[in-house]
Amino acid sequence: MLPYGRQSINEDDIAAVVAVLRGDFLTQGPVVEDFERRFAARVGARHAVAVSSATAALHLALRVAGVGRGDRVVTSPLTFLASANCAAYVGAKPDFSDIDPRSGTLDPVALEQDWQPDTRAVVAVDYAGQACDMPEIARIAHERGAVVIEDACHAVGGSFHAGPPGSTAVPIGGHPWADLTVFSFHPVKTMTTGEGGMLVTDRAAWAARARLLRSHGIVRDPAGFVTPDDDEVLGEKGPWFYEMQDLGWNYRLTDLQCALGLSQLGRLDGFLARRRQIVAAYNAAFAGCDWLVTPRLRDERDAATISWHLYTVQLDFAALGRTRTEVMAELRAAGVGTQVLYVPVHLQPWYRRTFGYGPGKCPAAESFYQRALSLPLHPAMTDGDVGHVITCVKATAQACVA
Ligand SMILES: Cc1ncc(COP(=O)(O)O)c(C=O)c1O
Repeated sequence: MLPYGRQSINEDDIAAVVAVLRGDFLTQGPVVEDFERRFAARVGARHAVAVSSATAALHLALRVAGVGRGDRVVTSPLTFLASANCAAYVGAKPDFSDIDPRSGTLDPVALEQDWQPDTRAVVAVDYAGQACDMPEIARIAHERGAVVIEDACHAVGGSFHAGPPGSTAVPIGGHPWADLTVFSFHPVKTMTTGEGGMLVTDRAAWAARARLLRSHGIVRDPAGFVTPDDDEVLGEKGPWFYEMQDLGWNYRLTDLQCALGLSQLGRLDGFLARRRQIVAAYNAAFAGCDWLVTPRLRDERDAATISWHLYTVQLDFAALGRTRTEVMAELRAAGVGTQVLYVPVHLQPWYRRTFGYGPGKCPAAESFYQRALSLPLHPAMTDGDVGHVITCVKATAQACVA
């Protein structure tokens, strides 16, 4: 069975992890910093903080930016739950603006129309690997004093005409793209550490706070201690001593994971090139099909540099006379795994119950969802695999029409 997404692990990746296993540190050793440095250089950011998942990175991003109770955080409904849940973690209200129906990314026009006085942050999701209209989103948010977090979980390694996600040093029209950018290294993403994520920012103070909070708010450097030397009990601060200066979490990424991350980072360009080849083959094969819409670009200038995490097509199941469940079952029987990404977050039971959201709030995302089907896309797919997917998808649709 060809899954819709899958990691690619080679002998170099395995050797990199085994080398850490043979060493002194399984976690919090030198490989973490090395991975952070190399990742920051790759995306062009000043600081990168490796964490246990992108969910953790999103939580820390809102926390270091000071977003919390009484604030509203707006994201796109066409995303994984974490892009919105992070707002609830910090006590803020998650809210949603609709998508641009072509690319599936957050629509700046909807964002501006929906803007509320308590909106303090925007989480802009690069759906399937395409960048949102970040210059416009940044303008809208920054003019109103809000923070921009780019959820680039799908866009690891991608680059856009205005710069790669995470390159917050690149100002466009006087505004940086995002104040903080978040990446995921979950196995279906464009490179993996098993579980894992990265938070990047140009602000040294926010990066330092994120480092503190990813490890229980613990300070070990005596230069940073705040307990007075004449404290009745804690006055003597020997080599064992540490202070908890803030309430944090265990959001650490291990040396084992970072070793895999470093090795995968070295293979990233190869992964992206293969993903782009597969997307080109799918686009060419489905070009003449009036029953299927291939992924559409938000900006033609980005065509060659998108990271393509997902290949999501739009199918009119009603016109085909089949339910999506039937189409997926038929493809699965032929060895082709597909997925639906995503169930709009505002329609999840917890969101309906907690915030009163319901159908009709984001019509473009709801209609995108009803027609969406993500086909297999991962670098280990052979040309034969790609051809098999194309044949099976066409055969399924033709059987429907017949
Ligand atoms: C858009 C988006 N944001 C956030 C996440 C959360 O990533 P992680 O699984 O690393 O916590 C994901 C993962 O699926 C995602 O696709």
